Amino acid sequence: MTKNHTVQKIKQGYVIDHLPAGKSRFILRLLDLYKSNYEVYTGRNVPSKKIERKDFLKIVGAEFSNVDFNRIALIAPNATVNRIENFEVAEKRRITIPRLVENIITCPNLNCITHVEPFMKTVFTYNDNTFICRFCEHRFGTDEVTFL
Ligand code: CTP
Ligand code: ZN
Repeated sequence: MTKNHTVQKIKQGYVIDHLPAGKSRFILRLLDLYKSNYEVYTGRNVPSKKIERKDFLKIVGAEFSNVDFNRIALIAPNATVNRIENFEVAEKRRITIPRLVENIITCPNLNCITHVEPFMKTVFTYNDNTFICRFCEHRFGTDEVTFL
């Protein structure tokens, strides 16, 4: 088996690595990359040293906000985000779901006020794999997350 199963190195942009196999398409959708004109390389179900099989994304010339990174963590908490400058890894960050998750996910409780008032922000506190809605106090796990 050849060791080098990666696609070409990129000059500048982001490599989002160690995504659980099959998750890259959710990240592509979340970051709106299906609609963007960025040059994107996707690796799906490739062998990995750290997890058995992984997906990865290489996005050339993209800029992402902290909110975008937080969104990635909601789908793939163990992803590594590598910022690439001049063909070098300039920054490697483990991303984490923030303690406060504002306006990214929906409340699974359909009776929650956030479903009645369409312009209302959603706000959740996150701790120990549990989200708690600020408005109805409904508690739910990462497996129940749906996006706004
Ligand atoms: N990469 C890239 N273009 C570059 C530099 C790196 O596409 N100019 C990719 C590598 O192919 C790798 C990822 O960015 O998938 C991280 O690079 P690096 O830290 O060198 O690899 P590893 O040591 O394997 O990373 P980790 O320890 O996070 O597994
Ligand atoms: Zn709620």
